Amino acid sequence: MRDLSGKTAAVLGGGSGIGLGIALGLAAEGVNVVVADIEADAASQVADRIREGGGSARDLRTDGTDPESLAEMVACAVREFGGLHLLSNNVGVVLDRPLDGITRSDWEWIVEFNFFSIVRGVEAVLPRMREQGEGGHIVNTASMAAVLAIPKSERMPAHIGAYTATKHAILGYSEILRGELAPEGIGVSVLCPGMVRSNLSATAARNRPGRHGGPLPAPPQPSGETQDRMMPPEQVGPIVVDGIRGNRLHIFTHPESVALVEDRQRRMLDDFAFFAQRARG
Ligand SMILES: NC(=O)c1ccc[n+]([C@@H]2O[C@H](COP(=O)([O-])OP(=O)(O)OC[C@H]3O[C@@H](n4cnc5c(N)ncnc54)[C@H](O)[C@@H]3O)[C@@H](O)[C@H]2O)c1
Repeated sequence: MRDLSGKTAAVLGGGSGIGLGIALGLAAEGVNVVVADIEADAASQVADRIREGGGSARDLRTDGTDPESLAEMVACAVREFGGLHLLSNNVGVVLDRPLDGITRSDWEWIVEFNFFSIVRGVEAVLPRMREQGEGGHIVNTASMAAVLAIPKSERMPAHIGAYTATKHAILGYSEILRGELAPEGIGVSVLCPGMVRSNLSATAARNRPGRHGGPLPAPPQPSGETQDRMMPPEQVGPIVVDGIRGNRLHIFTHPESVALVEDRQRRMLDDFAFFAQRARG
């Protein structure tokens, strides 16, 4: 979708971090934005910021795991702006725990929030995009953890095994979805950010619902020095805008991380070579 001005986007998880950056970036291109977040105050502050900058926005408390709440998000876009052309799907949670310490309840929470919220967001917007017949674009936020699998180490300060598994699932889902929706003129991208300044550990802990064990204690905040090394969320918005305009499958915020991906691919190719040699006998 090249011409964004006057279109309408729902930014799910738009109240903070990467969603906030995308909401601002789209608004700067003349897109009407529904800032949808489970934290109503956060959504309202982002919508205020967009309007103060001359843009057009509405905020809505939305639970990205609840189909009825998502239906209301779509209805809000149609009621306020006359349609819905873009979805930015950002809900996610993280839990710093090794895989053998993750309980069944943890898994159900992480899979529901990281993966099924993406699927439910797509299911909520597709009927409207199809009815409009004007095409559209969906950006599913995964992570560099969709293309890498890094154990806790000097380079990776946390255990992110369950997170990595669900982010890989988003990549596979999005790539197939892209092929299925292309004939209808609906683009699909998968956003793979590196480290971006956000509140992910804190919002994940405090919004863990009762059905998955309830809120967790507030995790320690990264140090100021660590935060300083991360990309400000406002820089993510223009990158995503270019990804939508260019209809890219992957949207990478940190292209300098390519060597890590090449290294992983090389290890995969080594295994192919091993079994190719075995097959030759
Ligand atoms: N920050 C990073 O470095 C980074 C890197 C790669 C990927 N990501 C991904 O980016 C996405 C956004 O994370 P972030 O880091 O910006 O965190 P964040 O906590 O700053 O933003 C997430 C937003 O989602 C909202 N949210 C949580 N549960 C929700 C629900 N059920 N319904 C609606 N809104 C809900 C939160 O209230 C919050 O405003 C996540 O999917 C995360 O995995 C983040």
